Amino acid sequence: MFERRIILAVLTAVVGLSAGCRCSSSNPTSAPVSIPTEASTLSSRGKSVYAGNCISCHNPNPKLAGTVGPEVFGSSIELLEARLLKGTYPEGYKPKRPGAGMPVFPHLASDIAALHAFLNAP
Ligand code: HEC
Repeated sequence: MFERRIILAVLTAVVGLSAGCRCSSSNPTSAPVSIPTEASTLSSRGKSVYAGNCISCHNPNPKLAGTVGPEVFGSSIELLEARLLKGTYPEGYKPKRPGAGMPVFPHLASDIAALHAFLNAP
C-alpha cells in the first residue's frame, strides 16, 4: 500500500510537470540553448542603432542603396568615424556619392563599434 502511494505520487508529479511544460521542443532536455555570442549581440545593437538613425536616408538593408544615401554595407571603422563624427572621409577614400547631405552624429560615438559589427555581419 505504501509503495503504491509513492508510485502514485511520482506519477502525479511527472504528469504535472510535463503538463506544465510549455516547451516547444519534443525533447526539452536535449534542446540546444542558444547563448548569444558577443559578436552577435554587438551586431544586433548596431542593427537597432542603424534602424533608429540611418534608414530615413539609407536602405534598411545596408547592402542596397537608399533613397538619399548610398549602400553602406562593409563600411570600415575609419569610414564610420569620419562620416558620423566629423562629416569627412578617411584620407584617399572615394565617396560612393558626391555631396554633403549627411548630418554628423556625435552622440553615436560609442555606438560605432556596434554599427560596424552590423554593417559587416555576413
Ligand atoms: C539625412 C540623411 C542621412 C542620414 C540620416 C544618414 N546618412 Fe549616411 N549618407 C547620406 C548621404 C546623402 C550620403 C552620401 C554623401 C553625402 O552626401 O554626405 C551618405 C553617406 C554615408 C556613408 C559613406 C558611404 C560611402 O562609402 O561613400 C556612410 C558610411 C554612411 N552614410 C553611414 C551612415 C550611418 C551609419 C548613418 C546612421 C547613423 C547615416 N549614414 C545616416 C545621408 C544620410
